[in-house]
Amino acid sequence: MRSERKMITAALPYANGPVHIGHLAGVYIPADVYARFQRRSGKDVAFICGSDEHGIPITIRAKKEGVTPQNIVDKYDEVIKKSFADLGISFDEYSRTTSKKHHEVSQDFFKTLYNKGKFTEEVSEQYFDEQAGEFLADRYIVGTCPKCGNDGAYGDQCEKCGSTLSPSELLNPKSMLSGNVPVLKETKNWYLPLNDYEDFLNEWIIEGHKDDWKPNVYGQVKSWLNDGLKPRAMTRDLNWGVPVPLPDADGKVLYVWFDAPIGYISFTQEWAEKNGKNWKDYWQNENSDLIHFIGKDNIVFHCIIFPAMMKAHGDYIMPTNVPAFEFLNLENDKISTSRNWAVWAHEYVEEFPGQQDVLRYTLLASAPETKDNNFTWKDFQIKNNSELVGIFGNFINRVAVLIHKYYDGIVPQGDENAPELLEIKKAANEIENFLEHFEFRNALTSMMNLARFGNQFLQIEEPWKTIKDSPEKAANSLFIAAQVAAGLAQISEPFMPFSSEKLLKMFNISQLNWKEIESEKILIKTGHQINPAELLFSKIEDETIEFQIQKLENTKQSNKKTNLKASPMKDEIQFDDFTKIDLRTATILTAEKVEKADKLLKFTVDTGVDVRTVVSGIAESFTPEECIGKQVMILLNLAPRKIRGIESQGMLLLATKPDGKLTFMTPESEVENGIEVS
Ligand code: MF3
Ligand code: ZN
Repeated sequence: MRSERKMITAALPYANGPVHIGHLAGVYIPADVYARFQRRSGKDVAFICGSDEHGIPITIRAKKEGVTPQNIVDKYDEVIKKSFADLGISFDEYSRTTSKKHHEVSQDFFKTLYNKGKFTEEVSEQYFDEQAGEFLADRYIVGTCPKCGNDGAYGDQCEKCGSTLSPSELLNPKSMLSGNVPVLKETKNWYLPLNDYEDFLNEWIIEGHKDDWKPNVYGQVKSWLNDGLKPRAMTRDLNWGVPVPLPDADGKVLYVWFDAPIGYISFTQEWAEKNGKNWKDYWQNENSDLIHFIGKDNIVFHCIIFPAMMKAHGDYIMPTNVPAFEFLNLENDKISTSRNWAVWAHEYVEEFPGQQDVLRYTLLASAPETKDNNFTWKDFQIKNNSELVGIFGNFINRVAVLIHKYYDGIVPQGDENAPELLEIKKAANEIENFLEHFEFRNALTSMMNLARFGNQFLQIEEPWKTIKDSPEKAANSLFIAAQVAAGLAQISEPFMPFSSEKLLKMFNISQLNWKEIESEKILIKTGHQINPAELLFSKIEDETIEFQIQKLENTKQSNKKTNLKASPMKDEIQFDDFTKIDLRTATILTAEKVEKADKLLKFTVDTGVDVRTVVSGIAESFTPEECIGKQVMILLNLAPRKIRGIESQGMLLLATKPDGKLTFMTPESEVENGIEVS
């Protein structure tokens, strides 16, 4: 038996960037269709989401942009929230994990587990940056990949060869905070022994949900359980997050995957308080179905870790289902935020005003339900022009126009028992069935098939011809067509809420619930006045599509220029700090090798101010002859240093090319020596 209450969650997006079509197709639009459908089916729905504002992705982004993590989450929470609203994602609550309530609720949750003795304490060695005075998250350690030799590998992963790593495997580890070599230091953290929950998980999921969970979800859980679970730290040595509510936990926060899913609960509480509801009805009562919409990379957190947390707590129900989606590609290439290879939701709503349903429709039609899927702008255009304009819009328009033309906009008389009317019930039934099984593409097809049916019906009946010789037949045809159009106005709502609203207005009818759509004999009465036809969808021209494709191409070009491995920006300095540095133009007068030092060259340099000696470790990139006569840039006021017994007075500026060779920073056109560079 399905429950009357639906607690529906959509994965909390990280507030470190805007949302793109991959997120929309693989989580938010299907979740919204489901939530809307359940509301229309009379269920008591709470559809909850919010921004995931803790964790390393946020602090990394902040570092990159040279601002605080709070700045980052404030900015992106706004952008994300607005995109969702603009696209009609009907969350009952969209909150943030930096909210006070969330901090309290997640700390309470932690304390409950702590007091029940559900955690183990473990001391481990973690990399520590002594200069920054901070423990380093895996992502903050770079070094050489032991598998492929890439020297830009992170402590958790090598992006070149795709290996999962742990920081201790990296060769030559360096802290991204200071560039220094980190040291190992002992630290205590609280662990959830996931291995203790294996039996429970096996029984609940592997035995209990073999048939009703999606094979991709079930399969992943099974393989995790086959490999065996290990205790996992639920606290981290970090300064951005929910503080660990224990006396001996200074400088520690809750693991982001501990606090984030609790966000579903705390946001439900926020919503319940505002709306006179009892949040426990949704989370702690067997009469509630808990459903998590997520992407496939979130399966372990929603099917293993969060359930284990709730089980450890003891008061919570388990999810009824965890519909996880695969990934959406864009123009046959992996969507990537860092490469800016994406169609961004906030840009779409600006560039395609009033066309939210086109995106909803096309993304649902290629939702990555069972395998990765692909979005192309060409396909977007075709789906819009031939399906939404050519079939759906065309049918609706014909019905409205014809009823106005022949009957002054008043629905004519027809057969209330006509067999064609069953098509509407059939579509509504199919959609219900498909959506209950999370088959969004099939559900969408059922809707579109009803529009197809309507079109074919008009084509066969030709009321514009029969109106002359058999007006009764024409009336009957248009009566039936009006029922189909009204049916579409009703059943399109979960998928295309903006169009559905327009349609209900156009046909001057009110929204029915799903049972009524399935059971009412007719959906629009004879004698009912409808409004003039309104344009639902319009053709998308080639130029529009070419513009979008060009925009992506430009991204590709500019990606070639941005260096993804560039080290993060150093700490901000003031202008005064900069003016302390004395940079000048200078010319190399002589150059020679330094004996018994393969890498060193010794120069005499005309700095405009004086002629001095500089020693530089660049012999692997240049012969002495190549250097003589070159105009270069010199750091003039660097304290002198002895190198191999030679006093080096200043430093020449060079950059490393992709092939590892060095290149001088030379003025673009010749200038005098001794000119200050600023
Ligand atoms: N922010 C995570 C992601 O984008 C999802 C968090 S879901 C939650 O992958 F359950 F933790 F909230
Ligand atoms: Zn590698």
